[in-house]
Parts: sequence; structure tokens; C-alpha cells
Amino acid sequence: MLILSFGFFWVTIRLSTCSDPIGIPDGHALDGRSDITMDDLDLIKQKINIVDLISEYLPLKKSGVNYKAPCPFHAEKSPSFVVSPERGIFHCFGCNVGGDIFKFLMLKDSMEFVDALDILAKRAGVTLSRKPSKDKDKKSKLFDANQKASQYFHYILTEHKLGEPALAYLKKRGLTDKTIKEFNLGYAPNSWDSLFKFMSKRGFTTSDLIDAGLAVASKSGGYDRFRGRVMFPLLDVKGQIIAFSGRILGVGEPKYINTPQTIIFDKGNCLYGLNLSKGEIRQTNAAILTEGEMDTIMSYQAGVKNVVASKGTALTAGQIDLIKKYTDTILLCFDSDSAGDAASRRGIEMADFAGLNIKVIKIPEGKDPAELSLKNVDLWKKAVEEAEPIYDYYLQSVAGRFNRNTAEGRKRIASEIAPLWAKISDNVTREFYIQKLSALIAIPEDIVRREVAKAGSSYAPTFENIIKQDGGGKEAFRSRRGRLEEYLMNLLLKIPADLTFVPNFPETLFTLEAYRSLYVLLVLYLDAVSFKGSAFNISDFVKTLPEELIPIVDGLYLTEIDDKLTNSKAWLNEINVVVAGLKKALVKASLEKLSDDIKNAESFGKIEQLQALTKRFRDLSLKLKNL
Ligand code: CTP
Ligand code: MN
Repeated sequence: MLILSFGFFWVTIRLSTCSDPIGIPDGHALDGRSDITMDDLDLIKQKINIVDLISEYLPLKKSGVNYKAPCPFHAEKSPSFVVSPERGIFHCFGCNVGGDIFKFLMLKDSMEFVDALDILAKRAGVTLSRKPSKDKDKKSKLFDANQKASQYFHYILTEHKLGEPALAYLKKRGLTDKTIKEFNLGYAPNSWDSLFKFMSKRGFTTSDLIDAGLAVASKSGGYDRFRGRVMFPLLDVKGQIIAFSGRILGVGEPKYINTPQTIIFDKGNCLYGLNLSKGEIRQTNAAILTEGEMDTIMSYQAGVKNVVASKGTALTAGQIDLIKKYTDTILLCFDSDSAGDAASRRGIEMADFAGLNIKVIKIPEGKDPAELSLKNVDLWKKAVEEAEPIYDYYLQSVAGRFNRNTAEGRKRIASEIAPLWAKISDNVTREFYIQKLSALIAIPEDIVRREVAKAGSSYAPTFENIIKQDGGGKEAFRSRRGRLEEYLMNLLLKIPADLTFVPNFPETLFTLEAYRSLYVLLVLYLDAVSFKGSAFNISDFVKTLPEELIPIVDGLYLTEIDDKLTNSKAWLNEINVVVAGLKKALVKASLEKLSDDIKNAESFGKIEQLQALTKRFRDLSLKLKNL
């Protein structure tokens, strides 16, 4: 989104390039300028009333706490362009543009951000502490830092005396030179400042290094985070280095150290090795998910290349989205019985909901893919080939743990499996496994099916189960509509953190006045946060609300939504489904009314009116069909 690129603007000036004795080309030098602070922007916004500014262009009229006008950015008759003086922002519900005073000028007078900033700073009488430049932004600075650091680590490992023990360690674990090169492995010397010094000479500031996670802040500035460790660069699919993990040589704690969360690294959104294995994943139509770097590297080296690592965490929504770009089948690699814990189950549910086939690779107790790949690659290949559906794996697991010959055992099996089966999203698959469970515990299918349904009904609402809850009838329709509006509002308040979503359906979709106001304020707020590039924060949002709306938000916020909807794609999809459902319901209601009117017109012989009404009926029916 265009807006986001203006969220941060950092000034970096490339002064010179130089080479160094190690033969690593070029570095960046900063001239000491830093970024424009958010304070400057906030100050300007405080001093300029957005209503005054926009009034110079548009005939704003007061409407409740906000102001309205016909939108200047698209043609319309009734005004859907809203300005909130309190929040200092505008939004059009017709064409979905919005933003603050800077964005308004940029759009209205088609200017660049820097120019809008200049004009508004003057108007506000604010002297900018720094001039912005359209040079590299902070993110690319951090990518550069990581890239440069990886060259340093790789050089030390492969060519420097300091790296010899690390190279010996990797050789002992069976890695070839080719693999070390392919994965760009490195070694961070056991020193507090060797990387620091190297990077400083190349123009990276202490704060760059800290922001990249390469250094840890200290009283005296900072020191190297990774010391005496084998370094594994973590790449995104574009091949940019977003983070590192560092393994200690031999035994010791912590075994691995990772880059913390940074503006370019979110642990939940990456898969180690994907940059290398994505082609193979697409070709084999399956992604093997291992736990660690070494598993991935060793499997890859042994020729089983469709492999990635989750780095010890349970599968996340972000990782599922990544995998889905290349395949619809995921092969989980479990030792013994780790499918049982809550975190991996949640990952599995999300993967199922996302439409992935989930299979399990079973490996012999106490072994891991790294070891198998090195010592018995045929066994590893066989295990991969024989991966079986996760649901069969669950059944085997309970069959092994409980006694099927006792009522107690059967009850335990049913109560462990029923909630899992309830979450299988595909009906045919669910039914198939209901039959299997029924056979396993020798209990009639109907009873098992009821248990599964019961386990499913304690869930948070979803569009589907709201729709299913009651039959037809006008009363039911009305209350269902109420529940859907409530649900939509609830979803909107739980916008996933990684989404910069500004809804663009009209506020009239809500029939309840309080929801309408709340919705308008929410959209204005979302505009503001998406402009700043920050995430939605419910507490900040509540601070912008009038007293009377707060209890409504609190009430909604406390109502759970389905776990799966923390995934931004699933969330967005659910929003679309609910909005479409509400729109349909509105059109249906109008059609009902029209058909009454048509009957009336007929019985009173009002031909002209009848024609108009019939045409309107046809148009609306068509609209309904296309929704
Ligand atoms: N991990 C981590 N931080 C730790 C321990 C583990 O990030 N302190 C991650 C690493 O990505 C690691 C994975 O979790 O690869 C699995 O941990 P573990 O099984 O302990 O390590 P292995 O993958 O077996 O590593 P190795 O083969 O090098 O011993
Ligand atoms: Mn291991």
C-alpha cells in the first residue's frame, strides 16, 4: 500500500564506497543525519486543524462529531467523505481513500510527501529538525547490515584462522564445503566487538546494529550479540537476509541464539531454508517441515531438498501462508509423540483450515532428520515416502495410549479425539474419520458423530454457525441480522496485527446506530494507524471513543472469536463473507418490501408505478445474484 511507504522516513546518505583488506566490497557511511521524528509530524498535526485545511477545498458540513462533504476523489452525489477533527484524519466510504493532513495534500494537489510536509510545516510554523530525503529507508539499511555481516561471518569461517574450530565442527557433523557455501554459513568469533568494529568501519552506526539485532545495547553503546557461534543466515523468499541464528560449538547453553524481533524479522513469518527449497517444494508438491537448521541442511545435502525448518516453534499462521504459495501438502516431522501438545495442535488446525493436507513423517525414537540424512539416508527417504495423514497418526497415538477394552479407555479416546475431529474443516474428511474412530472404539457412528458435534458446538461464533443457528421466519431473520452485525463488529475489533486493513463498506450496513458510529470512528482510526505503519491497538482506539461507546466495545472485545481467525487471510475472508451476507440480507429485505408494493400497485391498477416497481425488482434481483 502506498500509504505505508510513508510510515517511516529515514535519512541515510551514501557518501563513499571503499573496499577493505578482506575483500568485501563497499560500505555505507552516514553523515550523522538521522530521521525525522514522529514528534515533528505530531506537532504539525496538532497545530493544523484538519477541518480548516480541508474546508479550503471542500464545503464541509458538520455531521455528529465529524464533518462530511462529497468526496473530491471520486464522483458521488451523497457525501461519504468524512473528516474527524478529534483524530485529525479523513476517510471516504465511497472510494476508500483516507489519511491525515499530509495525505490529503498529497492526494488533492498530487504532491510528494516531502513537499506536503514542507508546506504544512511552514503553515504550522514548525521548523523541521531534519530534512527528509527519499534515500534508502531503514529497512533496507538493516538488510544491508545483515548482508554485510553475513559476508564477514562467512569469510571468518571459511578463510580465517579464527574460524578453524567452527569449520572443523561443521565438517565433523558431515557438512560439505558446497553446503557451507550454499547455506552461506559463517562463524562469529568469540569477541565482544569484532563484528562491531568491522561494521562501524563500513558506516553502520551503533543503532543500525542494534536495530538489526546484530548488537545488544549496553551503557557504552553496544556489543556483538553473536559470539563464538556458527552462524546461519535466515533469508526471506526474495533472498534477503532477515536474521541470523547462532549455534554454540559443541555442547553448552543456550544452544542457539536468534536475532530478536526487528522491523525486518518476525520469527512467526519465516521458514528456514525456504529460499533454497521452494522450487523443489513446488515440484514434489510437498514441504517437509523439520524443527531445526541442521535438519534442513542435512536433508537438503542428502538430496531430499523439499525441506524447511520452523526453528523449534509450532507452526504459525504466517508460515502456513508461506507454504501455501508452493504446495498444498505439508509433511510434519515428529519424533515420538509431540503431536499431542497444544501448540502443535493449534498449528495443525490452522493448516487444516487453510486447506493444507497434513501428513506426519514418523522417525525412529531418538533420531532426527539430520542424523538420518547423514547415516542412513534411505531410511529418511522411506520415512518421507510413508508419511501418513495426521488424523491417522492421532488415532494410532490414542490407540497406543489407552485401553480400548474398557469403557474408561474408550471414553478417554473419544474425548481426546472428538474436539480434533470437530475442527476438521472438510465435511467428507471429517465424516471419514468419524467412521474410523467409531470402528476403533467399537461405538456406533451416530454416537461418535454426536460427540464430535458436541465438541464443536462450544466454539466461538463463526459466520457459518450463526447462519445455521436458526431457521427462517422474519423474527429469526432480524435477530440473526443483529447477531451478524455484532459478529462483524467483533471481528473488526480483532484485526490481526499484521494487517493494514481499512474497510470500505458503507456504515449503513449496520442497522444499529451505535455500531454505525463505532464503525465510522474505527475506520478513521484504522486509516491513521495504517498511515503511520503501526498496528491496531485496542486500548489506543478506545481512547478515541466517546464515553457511551466504550461499554459496547468492551463487551464485544470480550466475546471470543474462533482461533483460526487470528490468521490474517482467514480473518479477511471471514469479514468478506459476513459483509456479503449482510448485504444480501439487506437486498432480500428490500425485495420483500418491493414485492408487497408490487402486489398493492397491481390490486389498485397503478400501471406506471407497477412498471417502475417491477424494474426495480428486477434490478435488485440481479444485484442479489451478483453479490
Ligand atoms: N532453538 C532455538 N533456540 C534454542 C534451542 C533451539 O532457536 N535455545 C531452535 C533451533 O532452530 C533448533 C530447533 O529449535 O534447531 C530445535 O532445537 P533442538 O532440537 O534442541 O536442536 P537441533 O535442531 O537438534 O540442533 P542440533 O542438531 O544442532 O543439535
Ligand atoms: Mn539435531
